[in-house]
Amino acid sequence: MGDHIYNELADRYAASSASGPPNALYDRPTILWLLGPVQGRRVLELGCAAGHLTCELVRAGAEVVALDKSERMVEHARQLLDGRARIEVADLSQTLPMVESESMDLVSASLVLHYLPDWQGVISEVHRVLKPGGALVMSVHHPITGWFRSNRSDYHRIELIEERWNVDGIETTAQMWRRPVSAVFSPLLHQGLVIDAVHEPEPRFDKPAVPDDRMRAALNTSPVFLYVRATRPL
Ligand SMILES: C[S@@+](CC[C@H](N)C(=O)[O-])C[C@H]1O[C@@H](n2cnc3c(N)ncnc32)[C@H](O)[C@@H]1O
Repeated sequence: MGDHIYNELADRYAASSASGPPNALYDRPTILWLLGPVQGRRVLELGCAAGHLTCELVRAGAEVVALDKSERMVEHARQLLDGRARIEVADLSQTLPMVESESMDLVSASLVLHYLPDWQGVISEVHRVLKPGGALVMSVHHPITGWFRSNRSDYHRIELIEERWNVDGIETTAQMWRRPVSAVFSPLLHQGLVIDAVHEPEPRFDKPAVPDDRMRAALNTSPVFLYVRATRPL
């Protein structure tokens, strides 16, 4: 889904996600905050892209297994990490036999699940690989913003929507699955995970941090991404 962005445009995406405010200032800090201390913890990272979050996790002392569907992204991530994390090509719409059951303290899924129409399979895999007491931390495009961008089609449907993105200077179309709020939480609850945090960041970026006026206004005032932390009970 939107594969050309993460394959053909992988080099540009890698550059823009390294320092672009939505990833570098909004998403990664929030994911790291929700994960909590990772020193000595085993973390499975879903949708690692070019490895920037992987890098921060490793720096903070985590032992990371990182997965992504795009071979080109995995090449970028391997180059960046230089052997400090295990990074593999994997499609989250399939099972993940390369990850042992009950082997992970934490799973992060930053801005990846909206590329999957059906979450039950991947959430079942998350539950399988988490140790009891372990937690999933995820971010997705916010359902309200997705619904507005769909020109307010039937809110209750899960549907494929398109967004125009500027990836490091190239205008392109990204596709993703928009879903209602209930369809974000139902697969987690169905799997028996316990929701222990729901977060909608309210950053107050100033012009030096985010020079682009439209982007700064959007990040400061709209529900851009939705964050959830869910725990596998003991
Ligand atoms: C927006 S990026 C994620 C950003 C990343 N977490 C970071 O911190 O930089 C989305 C990533 O999800 C990956 N992806 C999309 N669909 C996928 C799937 N079905 N299985 C695995 N990865 C997928 C893409 O290849 C891309 O690298």
